Amino acid sequence: MPVQYRDDIPSPESFWTLFESTGWNLEYRLPPADLARAVANSQHVEAAYDGERLVGFGRVVSDGIVHAMIYDLITDPAYQGRGIGTEILKRLVAKCREEGIRDIQLFSAAGKRGFYERRGFRARPDESPGMEYGEKLHPT
Ligand SMILES: CC(C)(COP(=O)(O)OP(=O)(O)OC[C@H]1O[C@@H](n2cnc3c(N)ncnc32)[C@H](O)[C@@H]1OP(=O)(O)O)[C@@H](O)C(=O)NCCC(=O)NCCS
Repeated sequence: MPVQYRDDIPSPESFWTLFESTGWNLEYRLPPADLARAVANSQHVEAAYDGERLVGFGRVVSDGIVHAMIYDLITDPAYQGRGIGTEILKRLVAKCREEGIRDIQLFSAAGKRGFYERRGFRARPDESPGMEYGEKLHPT
C-alpha cells in the first residue's frame, strides 16, 4: 500500500511511539500528554501513514505572518530513505508559503545539515547564529 499523507493530528499514542524513535525525549523528558498538547497547538501538521501506522510527521509553529518554525520532522527508522521526510518538508513549506509567511526556519539535528541544504535551507551566518536560553526545563 502506498504511503498516504494527511494534515490532521495523529493520535497521542502513535505520535509518542514515533517521537520516542528519535531519542530526543532523553533531553526533554516530556510526558505523552504534554507532547500531544504541543502537537495540537501547532499551526500545521503533516503526517504520513502506511495503512493505520504513523510512519512520518512534521509540524509548524507560526505567528501566521512573519515567522514560522518547522519542528519534529521525523520518519520511522524502518521507512527512512524513501522520500517521506522530503515530502513532509515540502508540504509544510508549501503551507507556510500559501499563508505568505516571510521567514521559514528550523533547527537542524546533528548530521542533517546537508539534508536541509539540498532542500532549499541554508545555515544562519556564524555572526548571527540561532541561540537558546539557559538550561531546558524538566518536569519535577
Ligand atoms: C531527517 C529525516 C526526517 C529524513 O527523513 P527520510 O524520510 O529518511 O527522508 P528522505 O527519504 O526524504 O530523504 C533521505 C535521503 O534518502 C534519499 N531518498 C529519498 N527517496 C529515496 C528513494 N525512493 N530511494 C532511495 N533514496 C531515497 C534522499 O535523497 C535523501 O538523501 P540526502 O539526505 O542525501 O538528501 C529522518 O532521517 C529522521 O527522522 N531522522 C531522525 C529525526 C531527525 O533527526 N529529524 C530531523 C530534525 S531537524
